[in-house]
Amino acid sequence: MKSQDKTPAQLHREQVQREALRMGIDEDYISVLVDTFYDRIRSHDVLGPIFSDAIGSNWELHLEKMKKFWSSVARNTGQYSGKPVPSHQKLTQVQQSDFAIWLDLFKQTLANTAPTPQAADYFMERADRIARSLKMAMFDRPGVFADC
Ligand code: HEM
Repeated sequence: MKSQDKTPAQLHREQVQREALRMGIDEDYISVLVDTFYDRIRSHDVLGPIFSDAIGSNWELHLEKMKKFWSSVARNTGQYSGKPVPSHQKLTQVQQSDFAIWLDLFKQTLANTAPTPQAADYFMERADRIARSLKMAMFDRPGVFADC
């Protein structure tokens, strides 16, 4: 297809993918990142039990979903179409402080696996932003005033 026949959305998607590839981010790396990160999550004292209660034996499905999620976030592929907010809101045993643990494990995984320092920063920026909005959706209670 000639570039003048492409929609603005297609052109944007291609540009995002070219920029990601320049940092070494492709589907193979996303697969390594997700597999390595959730291996660490599964053996973590605090986060491991939260995931195993929610996921049980469906790890393959979760990993597949998370690869699609990160492919959509990092490469704008549109593969993921789930709803992360309700999935997290039902996790009543999660504490606000667990987000710092999650982000720290993600950062360490990037430090150990990322193809370039730019790729590590690129993923971390997005993880920080999404974590902030998930945390807000889970813990902010608009209209509830502790002192009233
Ligand atoms: C304390 C931090 C977190 C905990 C304990 C946590 C835990 C979980 C669990 C247990 C699930 C599986 C839910 C289910 O299948 O029923 C899940 C799904 C998911 N998580 Fe998290 N999560 C955390 C933070 C994050 C962050 C920071 C991101 C993104 C950067 C994220 C992205 C997702 C996505 C995309 C799904 C799949 C949602 C769906 O489509 O059903 N999570 N998480």
